[in-house]
Amino acid sequence: MTIQRPVTAHSPIPGDDRTLSTEPTHELVVCVTCRPRGSEDRPGKALLAELTAQMAADAAWRVGGIECMAACGRPCAIALQSQDKTTWLFGDMDLTDAEDIARFARQYEALPDGWCKASERPGKLARTALARIPASGRVLPPDADACT
Ligand code: FES
Repeated sequence: MTIQRPVTAHSPIPGDDRTLSTEPTHELVVCVTCRPRGSEDRPGKALLAELTAQMAADAAWRVGGIECMAACGRPCAIALQSQDKTTWLFGDMDLTDAEDIARFARQYEALPDGWCKASERPGKLARTALARIPASGRVLPPDADACT
């Protein structure tokens, strides 16, 4: 049996034996089964195709589809995630939002923890967040009163 390993490259620095991964570190997920009320259309497939094209040169990103993220009442749902960062779930996305989604993805990539305020997100993403889930280990202690 052959076990496939991630594609990797060794550090170009002599003596540095760390391995540099060429695998994407961020994921943009589009629900391909979302269906607006009263419609047979599944617009997530077109949105996925557009985002795949717009993000093709962004090596840090893997763009893919999924069947349902439990946000069915707010089609189309999309999510952005990366290890040790906030996970975002948005609803009400359509093809006209693709440019803003790609812009936010690049913004998210640059944020150390992926956390930002509504006013910092482009277009409809400022008001269509359904979840902003902190990375594991980033929750505040019970006596903290900070909220941003
Ligand atoms: S069908 Fe898209 S979130 Fe459920």
